[in-house]
Amino acid sequence: MTDIAKNVYNIETVILDDTHSELIILDQTLLPAETVFLKLKTQEEIWEAIYKLRVRGAPAIGIAAAYGIYLGAKASKATDYDGFYSEIIKLKEYLASSRPTAVNLFWALDRMDECVKRNKEKTVNDIKFDLLKESQNIKQEDIWVCRSIGEYGLTLLKPGMGILTHCNAGQLATSKYGTALAPIYVGHEKGYNLKVFADETRPLLQGARLTAYELNKAGVDVTLICDNMASAVMKNGWVQAVFVGCDRVAANGDTANKIGTSGVAILAKNYNIPFYVCAPTSTIDLSCASGKDICIEERKPEEVTEMWYEKRMAPKDIKVFNPAFDVTDEKFITGIITEYGIVKAPYSESLKEIFKRKRGT
Ligand code: MRU
Repeated sequence: MTDIAKNVYNIETVILDDTHSELIILDQTLLPAETVFLKLKTQEEIWEAIYKLRVRGAPAIGIAAAYGIYLGAKASKATDYDGFYSEIIKLKEYLASSRPTAVNLFWALDRMDECVKRNKEKTVNDIKFDLLKESQNIKQEDIWVCRSIGEYGLTLLKPGMGILTHCNAGQLATSKYGTALAPIYVGHEKGYNLKVFADETRPLLQGARLTAYELNKAGVDVTLICDNMASAVMKNGWVQAVFVGCDRVAANGDTANKIGTSGVAILAKNYNIPFYVCAPTSTIDLSCASGKDICIEERKPEEVTEMWYEKRMAPKDIKVFNPAFDVTDEKFITGIITEYGIVKAPYSESLKEIFKRKRGT
């Protein structure tokens, strides 16, 4: 495979510094106006960065949490396994409480936990080294995973097509390439001349601030639209496919992604436009039977009432409902693009097959 890093805007959002003593993140709440990297040392700082969406996007928060476990482990003064492991578990529970919907957070924390248990017979110092390698692997593997989603996703596209996306499932949300934006970057490399419509994504504007920003920097043809304009651009015939990322896919294919995604899927169905979810297997949670079992994060009302203007945008004391995600019913999803291939309904069977492919069975 050709490395597209040379051809597109590429920025690392989650980095462990060279001395392995602090986590460096790009503060995504300040983009696009300011490019500020934060150095995080304490668990509280890492928790806050995830909670406040300074680092955001399902794969990226998993990577940040894995590094968080490593840094906590490194700082541990415990000399025996039991004392060390009980500290790791406390840390795991703490970081897990930062955000509830993206399963990658729990998946990465579980991987770090398993790494400790698997190496139980080793010295605490050796386990710390294993945790360093495991956190680095989680980040590195994500590059391959996203690239592979990009290659599979591109098989669904033809040059010149219009693609609509919601929120940001791009390089900023992953180690590299993104998930929903990966087919667009791979297509860009191959001269597909795709035309992307980026929903602004109220209330936190990940589409406007992040997707429009990174695609524009990469030289991709991108048009920013308000969320309520998606129907108009679809009706105009400008969109031939929708690609979105996801935070958790249930066993039946129901998918949680940024609030507003389900509305886009319903619109796409109306206009006969294929709607694809780009999902690394780390985002598929077979322990959730359906979307009803996915915990949807609710965030503070101020994100809706006073986030973007100096003056409040809504009456004082107004009631606000601010879910950060919604669930798209599987019946609206044309296909789910994973790093092991594209699956279609019935998802209760095809998703299991993907995990068999992953295990090589
Ligand atoms: O609240 P956010 O900005 O973390 O929400 C992110 C999304 O909804 C993304 O689409 C999803 O995490 C996939 S990122 C590859």
